[in-house]
Amino acid sequence: MKQIKKKILFGEYVSGVGLKKALSKKPDEVVEEVKKSGLRGRGGAGFPTGLKWEFALKEKGDEKYVICNADEGEPGTFKDRKLLMEQPEKVIEGLTIAGYAIGAKQGYIYLRGEYIYILPTLEKTIEQLKKENLLGKNILDSGFDFDIEIRLGAGAYVCGEEFALIESMNGYRGEPRNKPPFPTQKGFRDKPTVVNNVETLCFIPYILSKGAEWFKSFGTEGSTGTKLFSISGDIEHPGVYELELGVTLNEVLELVGARNPKAVQVGGASGICVAKKDFDKPISFQGLPPGGSIIVFGENRDMLKVLKNFLEFFVEESCGQCTPCREGNYRLLEGVEMLEKGECSVRYVRELLTLCDVMKTSSKCGLGQTSPNCFLSILENFKDEIIYR
Ligand code: NAI
Ligand code: SF4
Repeated sequence: MKQIKKKILFGEYVSGVGLKKALSKKPDEVVEEVKKSGLRGRGGAGFPTGLKWEFALKEKGDEKYVICNADEGEPGTFKDRKLLMEQPEKVIEGLTIAGYAIGAKQGYIYLRGEYIYILPTLEKTIEQLKKENLLGKNILDSGFDFDIEIRLGAGAYVCGEEFALIESMNGYRGEPRNKPPFPTQKGFRDKPTVVNNVETLCFIPYILSKGAEWFKSFGTEGSTGTKLFSISGDIEHPGVYELELGVTLNEVLELVGARNPKAVQVGGASGICVAKKDFDKPISFQGLPPGGSIIVFGENRDMLKVLKNFLEFFVEESCGQCTPCREGNYRLLEGVEMLEKGECSVRYVRELLTLCDVMKTSSKCGLGQTSPNCFLSILENFKDEIIYR
């Protein structure tokens, strides 16, 4: 259990120390420190944060933006909510450092519509940090000006996808766009924009104040640092846990009091469903996907019902812009309903598996590219229970 004990985000924090250190460096030195730390995005995709910042820093022009993606909508995921409610000054400090590093004077927090009750806390924190000269004009007498505005989402899951989020902020319908160009090239108001997840930003003050080497002492070589997991389902101790990357699923299950689990959904609805044979695998960018959530299913759970629940969600949340996702999720759900009634042939199941491959390769955004994961992993691991019911 050694890997479970060390903490960063739930450890000691002094507001402003990381920012002060950042402002004593040149922007490219800040980017270099974040690159050296090996920090990878905590929103799900795991893109190297320092590299993303470097792309934006190298773009010409002095109108650039940084956005904190606080549109946490993945089923079973509630770790960003905890950070926003309990550590708002850390989120804002991370965003301010990001702004300094890429040359942006304006930052935004795109807050999930359902999290409207966190708005007053964030507004109060912004005001307080301005009084302390940690935000606003001439921060800490460095000559750096940076302000933050909050934008509220309106309940669409797809607006967690960065281009849908940017479109929504631009005042249009929240729909994903093809990449490239990436937001670092053409984002908010068509200007270079960095979009980072809440948790990613919270690590930044630590990396600046304690150094990249210190951060790298957590986790594994290819997956540095710790990770927050929202853990729920058939367990004794649900909640948000901070664990080192590289921890095995078995260690996590023991910690949260999971008795005889049959399956674990790692990474929310868009993640994968893991069966017992893989519980000894590590959770990391090289192992089981380190998304924000872990949902545990006990031995009495009906896995077809679990799958149906996920697919109903995707049918509801698909923005409908591209055919593989709009039609594909609907067909997968229809197949599950046929399986429920015992009316689905093995041959048709095979066709649906092929459809999953098509969706993964031809959908426009992460929603349609990852929504077949639950179908593929649940069918593969629970064939006997589902097909031969
Ligand atoms: P992606 O792999 O396309 O991009 C990841 C990030 O890296 C983006 O910010 C993108 O702009 C940036 N990037 C990648 N290549 C780049 C380049 N060459 N230049 C500049 N920037 C570059 O993944 P995407 O579509 O942003 O996210 C998909 C992931 O989101 C899925 O893997 C899934 O796990 C996760 N997800 C998370 C949810 C949540 O609530 N946190 C909900 C649904 C999915
Ligand atoms: Fe919209 Fe789905 Fe296509 Fe993404 S994959 S653009 S959510 S229809």
